[in-house]
Amino acid sequence: MISIPILDRLSFRDYQGLIFTVLFFAIETVIRIIVILLPKFVINGIDAFIESAFPWLTSSERKPRVSPLEKAESFEQIIRFWRKYAYEQHVVRTQDDYFLCVHRIPYKEIITSDKYNDKNNQRKNRMEKNIEIMDNLDQFIKTKAHRPPTKNGNRPVVLLYHGFLMSSEVWVCNTDEHRNLPFVLSEQGYDVWLGNSRGNKYSQNHQSLSPANTAFWNFSLNEFAMYDLPDVVDYILEQTGASSLTYIGFSQGTAQAFAGLSVNPRLCKKVNLFIAMAPATTPKGLHHPMIDAFVKATPSVVYLLFGRKTPLKLALFWQRIISPPLFVKVIDGCVNFLFGWTGRNMTAEQKLVSYQHLYSLTSVKSLVHWFQIIRTGRFQMYDEVPSRIPYHSPNVVRDHIPPKFPTKQISTPIAVFYGNSDSLVQFDVLVADLPPLAYVKAIESWEHLDFLWGKDIEHLLYPDILKLLRHFNAQTDEKNHQLEPERETDMYTE
Ligand SMILES: *[C@@H]1O[C@H](CO)[C@@H](O)[C@H](O)[C@H]1NC(C)=O
Ligand SMILES: *[C@@H]1O[C@H](CO)[C@@H](O)[C@H](O)[C@H]1NC(C)=O
Repeated sequence: MISIPILDRLSFRDYQGLIFTVLFFAIETVIRIIVILLPKFVINGIDAFIESAFPWLTSSERKPRVSPLEKAESFEQIIRFWRKYAYEQHVVRTQDDYFLCVHRIPYKEIITSDKYNDKNNQRKNRMEKNIEIMDNLDQFIKTKAHRPPTKNGNRPVVLLYHGFLMSSEVWVCNTDEHRNLPFVLSEQGYDVWLGNSRGNKYSQNHQSLSPANTAFWNFSLNEFAMYDLPDVVDYILEQTGASSLTYIGFSQGTAQAFAGLSVNPRLCKKVNLFIAMAPATTPKGLHHPMIDAFVKATPSVVYLLFGRKTPLKLALFWQRIISPPLFVKVIDGCVNFLFGWTGRNMTAEQKLVSYQHLYSLTSVKSLVHWFQIIRTGRFQMYDEVPSRIPYHSPNVVRDHIPPKFPTKQISTPIAVFYGNSDSLVQFDVLVADLPPLAYVKAIESWEHLDFLWGKDIEHLLYPDILKLLRHFNAQTDEKNHQLEPERETDMYTE
């Protein structure tokens, strides 16, 4: 064992953990291969068997009604499901040649019943005249899709960014329309944009690299903060003609903004307000003591387990195979084991839908970066050559110390929302490193994911967000009028 450099500082307990993990993955692989080889009807049979043999595993208090949102395959399908919201897809090319897909809900269609019927009648007449109905419909959809991007018409702009191992879908999978933040914002006249980090479901393209290459996955939080964020913000401001936007991040979405804003004063000027929900900058660690000790000992050991590309790709495989109610139990079990979350403030119906849209890919390197941050307790840049000496050991001469992100330098106003039962957030550690906050709200007994899907989110969280948006966008307007009195107003017409 001494010959493997990463392993030589592990304790006996860590070895146990390592062997346990390797065994787990080996067994998982064997089962997965068997499942692949089995025909579909056998799998359905097994599913039915599990359901009847262990009813407590799958049936909640009552059988939840299945929402079509559960099976929606993409962000676009979810938007189309609600029918009222305009939708655009944009692609941002980063300085280092990744192509990021950005979703946009530019406005809510105002459908008065008259207008709606008129449109329907027109369409019906057109169809009756024409025998090739399908062709016509196709054409209709195509011309609709080829409209130029919407003029912004001075709507204030909001950018939402998802968390670790997620995509923009997490923002729109609440089962009640008005519990979805993008729709609430759209209703209030905001121009809503939703980012997707490099490597996730929507952003797996690069000018010269393929996701099959290790080099494609060579990115961590550094790249989210230094490239993804400023490049996406620049693109949005150029498209809309706005002078600044409001940024709302969840979890890692906050971390990348804390990091990105801290090193980029010009970016600070382009963001009029940064709303941080469930802000994770220095998570304490993992709930299970053995796993926690294990990753803190040597974050790079994660590379041994997952390789250098993307972790847990096979989770998507299991998601396809397992029935949704069972999948909810599995995810609840996993996050309870890893983070101690109970999920008690989300309804069973909600979990059925959201957990189907919870998980997306990212790089193993960004996972290692998080473990480095957890290990040192510092919100610091990725360390390519980490020292194996624990950070707090006394009397040690170090050859390098990775810089902390200088979050005290951020000039953008910051509002923080966090849950009192969120094991990933250390509020005291966070504020100690920030300039004075514009607004803080702690929500009693909320955990991490409640900031996306918690019960009563529309009363506990959104009114505060709307108030903040109104306040800071009014300030921005005032400033603009002082600076550029002749700014042309571009009225939006549809
Ligand atoms: C990843 O990029 C860094 C710096 O950009 C480089 O030093 C390192 O060798 C790269 N690693 C891999 C595995 O490509
Ligand atoms: C979350 O759930 C707990 C336990 O059911 C409950 O006591 C608490 O009031 C809930 N929190 C909120 C904010 O609804």
